[in-house]
Amino acid sequence: MSGNMNLTIKAWRQKNAQARGGFETIKLSNISPDMSFLEMLDVMNEQLIKEGKEAFAFDHDCREGICGMCSLVINGLPHGPDSLVTTCQLHMRKFKDGDTIVIEPWRSAAFPVIRDCAVDRGAFDRIIQAGGFVSINTGNAPPANTLPVPKADADRAFDAAACIGCGACVAACKNASAMLFVSAKVSHLAYLPQGKPEKQKRVLAMVEQMDKEGFGNCTNLFECEAACPKGITVEFIAKMNREYMCATVLYAEKVYSTEA
Ligand code: FES
Repeated sequence: MSGNMNLTIKAWRQKNAQARGGFETIKLSNISPDMSFLEMLDVMNEQLIKEGKEAFAFDHDCREGICGMCSLVINGLPHGPDSLVTTCQLHMRKFKDGDTIVIEPWRSAAFPVIRDCAVDRGAFDRIIQAGGFVSINTGNAPPANTLPVPKADADRAFDAAACIGCGACVAACKNASAMLFVSAKVSHLAYLPQGKPEKQKRVLAMVEQMDKEGFGNCTNLFECEAACPKGITVEFIAKMNREYMCATVLYAEKVYSTEA
């Protein structure tokens, strides 16, 4: 079909976290601009399998931009050259005939490679397990009007809750910082009445786990915000820092008053 493209793919291949990886060059022809990026990779894998080679491993699930599983650095950019989209929502019309496309995994010591471009993001799960939830028994859902939430707080909580936990923020940051992710999760609960009773305990536990996992610290580069497919803003990092400082002072006071 006219308009279809011939492409050169340089895909990162790595057998496991310990193996030394490298790029494999794969030529593709007749790629439709209407395909999604992942459909292009499906075509590439069919070709590799027909040639008797191993399929290229990459993460995906919903292919609708909601689950946070897809995770490729495409030509140096997490989720590729489009803005506010995940890799599964990126379309081949963003590329042109004859292009070379370089595909790499999320690179971070806290995200070990499982195979090729599939990485283990269990570190994010462990951060959530450390405190990213509400554990108080709130009973049945009350009628909405009995628990008024200021509109501005509801909007901010909803903006933070848009984080799908894909890890693009970590991949984009030269410090491999997870602070955008953690701050979104800390903030969305801290803004709401149901999340407030545990907010100090939560922020201390989640930040401690983030540090344990080996993520770096934020040095205000804002690459995370630029790469985030859901438009999570670095203002949430400022909110998390405020929550963390308040929690540290409150806990220090508690310890001091118990000792006194
Ligand atoms: S596969 Fe679910 S967000 Fe991309």
